[in-house]
Amino acid sequence: MSRIIKTVHLADEDATMSLGAGLAPYLRAGDVVLLKGDLGAGKTTWARGLICSLLGDVEVPSPTYTLVQTYDAPNFEVWHFDLYRLKQESDIWELGIEEALEDCICLIEWPQRIDGLLNGSELTISLNINKAERTAEIIGNADWQTRLEEERLEEERLGEEAKLGDA
Ligand SMILES: Nc1ncnc2c1ncn2[C@@H]1O[C@H](COP(=O)(O)OP(=O)(O)OP(=O)(O)O)[C@@H](O)[C@H]1O
Ligand SMILES: [Mg+2]
Repeated sequence: MSRIIKTVHLADEDATMSLGAGLAPYLRAGDVVLLKGDLGAGKTTWARGLICSLLGDVEVPSPTYTLVQTYDAPNFEVWHFDLYRLKQESDIWELGIEEALEDCICLIEWPQRIDGLLNGSELTISLNINKAERTAEIIGNADWQTRLEEERLEEERLGEEAKLGDA
């Protein structure tokens, strides 16, 4: 079962980018991240944060018309999809997503277009605007909950050792 792992307040564009960048160390080849939220909610901004944290200050255009844009990161390729203009679910196969699902990271804006193909193993970032306030919910199944939690604990443990080492 998927549940909300974390809710984050996003004060400005940089905060949305940082949230994307912050997830980068947790990702492995084969992961799928669904970017949900209304038009202009910040999905591309989030993807830009993640991609730039892996590749430096590269240009990350919105794949509104190309539907997909790929990036060669050090450990895996990142495929950034925007499916808003996808006409029917089965058109997704023409974009080469099958190969990407195996050994790349897929970031998918407007994943509602391929709802029937999703299996619940994806991590979801749900970006919301309520009046002037923007928030993001990070939603995932037990595997994601464990992974994000374990890595955080690991970081804390390493941080603790570093502190002891300094003493
Ligand atoms: N936390 C934030 N606070 C204020 N503005 C933000 C925030 N995050 C992103 N923005 C701004 O919101 C605008 C829309 O962002 P973006 O293009 O990322 O949205 P999107 O969800 O990808 O839209 P679309 O559905 O059209 O693909 C941009 O101008 C971006 O700078
Ligand atoms: Mg977008």
